[in-house]
Amino acid sequence: MADPDHQKDGKETHNDIESFHAALRSSRRILALCGAGLSASSGLPTFRGAGGLWRNFEATNLATPGAFAMDPGLVWLFYGYRRHMCLKAKPNDAHKALAALAREMPNFLCLTQNVDNLSQRAQHPPDRLFTLHGSLFDIKCSKCDWIERGNFDDPFCPALAPASVDPPPGETLPLLNPYHRIQHVSEDELPKCPRCKQGLQRPGVVWFGESLDFDVIARADSFVRAGPLDLMFVIGTSAIVSPAAGYIDKARKNGARIVVIDPRAEDLDEMDKLRSGDFAFGQDAAKILPVLLEPIIGTRQPDGSYRKPG
Ligand code: APR
Repeated sequence: MADPDHQKDGKETHNDIESFHAALRSSRRILALCGAGLSASSGLPTFRGAGGLWRNFEATNLATPGAFAMDPGLVWLFYGYRRHMCLKAKPNDAHKALAALAREMPNFLCLTQNVDNLSQRAQHPPDRLFTLHGSLFDIKCSKCDWIERGNFDDPFCPALAPASVDPPPGETLPLLNPYHRIQHVSEDELPKCPRCKQGLQRPGVVWFGESLDFDVIARADSFVRAGPLDLMFVIGTSAIVSPAAGYIDKARKNGARIVVIDPRAEDLDEMDKLRSGDFAFGQDAAKILPVLLEPIIGTRQPDGSYRKPG
């Protein structure tokens, strides 16, 4: 790649692991923005990738208050299926490496758009992980402010049982086949809010057109403003959904060098967005993150612990 901004002595620096290690060792404050690509190696589909269609619906069209108002049973089948998939998936080496970094570095904050609970299951310290888009395992009322945290029922309710079935190996789940007619789930079959007794229970995720939790945003902003940032990791996200994506610019304005980790990171159009001193690693996050973070977290041992360098 002939990019003069990313060359030193004729050598590429944007993906040079030694240069990155030097930058990491001297870093004091780091922010990360994570997206669906972080969990891709755990077998969960991304939103805008090949697995982004559910039956014949765009996943993003089902994630709206309008879709829920129109057909809550269909939207719940989609979320019931996602809950089931996430419960079956396991945290990968990228979740674990980020969790280890958070344990080592008090001034590392991870903002995740993921609702899959995999970072939490990788023991990411909860006060260092802000879930911008909520969680599939929180349940809210669609009318009042009732919320239940950490509901892992699978299926969520009896009517959603078809979403929690594992097909025989090599076969598609009938629910996922758009040509297979599914039993319509009516409103009466879905649980109501135990407090107001009127609203339907719904997934505790932020849908398109809804605001993010004010408190989470305020705390993320205050971390960004608390002092200059050294690095901003952008991991497995297309970074097109606001306000999450806005943290990349905020971090840059606060001095951060951007570090993109995504198989598409070294595509020409992505490289165009980089500035001198930024990094781009066009690889699977689960493969490259443990290598990149090694100077701080050490190497992972067979028992799951990390052995520190030196
Ligand atoms: N490692 C790292 N990145 C990967 C991997 C991998 N193994 N596989 C895919 N990716 C990258 C893709 O190249 C893409 O850039 O992950 C990114 C996923 O982008 P999206 O599907 O757009 O997901 P995301 O950015 O998380 O979406 C943001 O949009 O639909 C809403 O609320 C939803 O939180 C979601 C938000």
